[in-house]
Amino acid sequence: MLDGRSIELRCLEFEDLPQVVKWRNQRDIRKFFFEKALISISGQKAWFERYLEDRARAIFIAVSKKSGKPVGMIGLYNIDLMNHKAEIGSTMVGDPFMWGKGIAVEMVELLLRYAFEDLSLNRIYAYAIDFNLGSIRVKEKCGFQLEGTLNQDHYVNGKFHDVKLFGITRERWENRMI
Ligand SMILES: CC(C)(COP(=O)(O)OP(=O)(O)OC[C@H]1O[C@@H](n2cnc3c(N)ncnc32)[C@H](O)[C@@H]1OP(=O)(O)O)[C@@H](O)C(=O)NCCC(=O)NCCS
Repeated sequence: MLDGRSIELRCLEFEDLPQVVKWRNQRDIRKFFFEKALISISGQKAWFERYLEDRARAIFIAVSKKSGKPVGMIGLYNIDLMNHKAEIGSTMVGDPFMWGKGIAVEMVELLLRYAFEDLSLNRIYAYAIDFNLGSIRVKEKCGFQLEGTLNQDHYVNGKFHDVKLFGITRERWENRMI
C-alpha cells in the first residue's frame, strides 16, 4: 500500500476489472489513450492472467481515503531493471466529475516515490498526445521535463498529432524534494 494525503495506491486486483473497464470505455477517457478501442471484461480477464506473469509492469488502483472507493488507476510499464528506468502509463481518474481535485498529481507523486525509493529506478518517462492538456499539466506539476516531440506520431479522427515525451530523473526528483 502506498499511503498518500487523500488517496492510497494498492495493487490492481482481478476484482477491479469491471470497474476499470467501465472507466476506460467512457469516451471522455478513451479519447486520451493511445489505444482507442473499447475493451471487454472477458478481454481484461485474459489480459490480467498475462499481466500477473509480467514483472515489467506494476499497476495500481487509487482508493479515496475518505470514501474508501476506487477513484483511479496508474501503472509502471516497461520496468527495465538493467537500465533502472520505467514508463508511467494508464493514468486515469475514473469519474470526470472528480477531475481537477489533485488526484492525478497525488497518484503520480506516490508512484514516483515508489519507483525511486523502493524499486531503485533512476529515470521515469511518460508520453502524452499533444491535445491532452490535463496529462501534460500533471507531468509538469510533478517535475517532469519535456524531453522531445514525436512529430505526427498519433493518428486519430483524420488528423495526425504530435506526441510529447516527458521524463524525470532520480536526481531531479530528489532535488525537487528538498
Ligand atoms: C489527465 C487526468 C489524469 C488528470 O487528472 P486530475 O485528477 O484531473 O488532475 P489534477 O487535478 O491532479 O490536475 C493537475 C493539474 O492539471 C490541470 N488540468 C487537469 N485537467 C486539465 C485539462 N483538461 N486542461 C488543462 N489543465 C488541466 C489542473 O488544473 C491542475 O493544474 P493547476 O493546479 O495548475 O490548476 C484526468 O483528466 C484523466 O483521467 N483524463 C483521462 C485519461 C487521461 O488522459 N490519461 C492520461 C493518458 S496519457
